Amino acid sequence: MAILNLLFEHRDVEGIGNIDVWEANGGYEGVRKAAALEPQVIVDEIKTSGLRGRGGAGFPTWIKWNGLPKNYDAPHYVLCNADEGEPGTFKDRELILKIPHLLIEGMILAGFATYSKVGYVYIRGEYVEPAWQLRKAIDQAYAKGYLGKNILGTGRDFDIYIHMGAGSYECGEESALMSSLMGERGNPRLKFPHAPLPTVAGVWQAPTLINNVETYCAAAWIIKHSGEEYAKYGTEKSKGTKIMSVSGHVARTGNYEIEMGTPLMELLNMAGGVKDGVLKAVIPGGSSVQIMRPEQCEKINLDYESCGANGTLLGSGGFMVFNDKTDIVQLMRRTSQFYMHESCGKCTPCREGTRWLFKILDRIASGNGQKGDVELLLDVCSQIDGRSYCGLGDAAAWPIVGAIKAFRSEFDYWIEHKRSPIGNTFVPPVVEAVNPVLALTSV
Ligand SMILES: Cc1cc2nc3c(=O)[nH]c(=O)nc-3n(C[C@H](O)[C@H](O)[C@H](O)COP(=O)(O)O)c2cc1C
Ligand code: SF4
Repeated sequence: MAILNLLFEHRDVEGIGNIDVWEANGGYEGVRKAAALEPQVIVDEIKTSGLRGRGGAGFPTWIKWNGLPKNYDAPHYVLCNADEGEPGTFKDRELILKIPHLLIEGMILAGFATYSKVGYVYIRGEYVEPAWQLRKAIDQAYAKGYLGKNILGTGRDFDIYIHMGAGSYECGEESALMSSLMGERGNPRLKFPHAPLPTVAGVWQAPTLINNVETYCAAAWIIKHSGEEYAKYGTEKSKGTKIMSVSGHVARTGNYEIEMGTPLMELLNMAGGVKDGVLKAVIPGGSSVQIMRPEQCEKINLDYESCGANGTLLGSGGFMVFNDKTDIVQLMRRTSQFYMHESCGKCTPCREGTRWLFKILDRIASGNGQKGDVELLLDVCSQIDGRSYCGLGDAAAWPIVGAIKAFRSEFDYWIEHKRSPIGNTFVPPVVEAVNPVLALTSV
């Protein structure tokens, strides 16, 4: 198990973003194939593949695709979540920038499978270059008859629109994304069973499919090559590949497509190993998941089950490596600052709790920690986790609980000695001024 370039097969081909080069490399074969298939056959192929959503939660993709009403009686929508706000994750950016037609193919197939005629790519506002690349690719697909009316003479229609976000992490949460797309404030909605699933009443209350960029790209690969072929790779429950965005203290940062189940340490070695020191910790799936010590890293394989069994998550694949010069308390201070800044404010545990977490971590990491602060942090986390309106609250609490579990002695050292256990005297600045609301009030 190691690097397995299924989605990235053509990533480095010169001019692959251009539709002619894409077609010359087998592009749109899957769409041509699917044009002759019944929608249910496409859904069943995805089921056979065992594909699970790559946006973080790993939910079986076919269940969503199967959940929309199977008729064209009323509008259905296909949404692509390209918000990619999870710190440490940058795979969707590369997929869109380098191989945009793979995503377009995946969305067309999803449209065929779910009786949808309209798709939206909700892309984060900072991704200007990828958005332009996607714009060009969509125009090319229209010109070749893969998008628009009566696609390839099938009688099926499908249009794709790009919608740029305004830089809010919360707008990657699917219900907040739908609110934002509709022009409302990017707040989340009630969840099932208190509200219908998006497949029943999503954007504009119409049946809606929402998947991550990588999920649609994998679906395109599956329809071209078959679900059975995809299911040959990976583990029993985590099929296929996962793109891991490797960053931090490694020799070669970047996106690595690996077979599911690849040992964590193997990925680290592929990235050239730890830079400027020895391994202190890895966050395997983005800043929302629990940090792992080296001895834990040795046991982890990069699939949903192994990560879960070892107390962390594969998440969105934001794989961050830290050497022994890393101050874990400062790392958590900065992480909590992010969640405080991104909390949408709709519910009290997250709105207030994320501020409390940052305040406590800030005072510890500036030498003003008090006895009992670690217990206070854990208490605040327990008031946020599972009690918040959406997943952002949990995401703010989990990394801190994980860091205290794995590196408790560093928190205690800071509180007792009023300085960093690793001799790091740099305290990152408070960046609240970038919050436009706070910036305005301070004028
Ligand atoms: C706070 C928060 C932020 C999220 N951000 C993203 C994101 O940027 N991209 C994404 O695909 N999913 C994100 N998700 C997960 C989505 O809500 C949703 O589960 C996902 O888009 C479903 O696609 P999938 O089934 O293909 O994984 C986020 C969830 C939460 C709670
Ligand atoms: S947990 Fe609550 S305050 Fe935090 S982002 Fe979600 S809805 Fe907003």
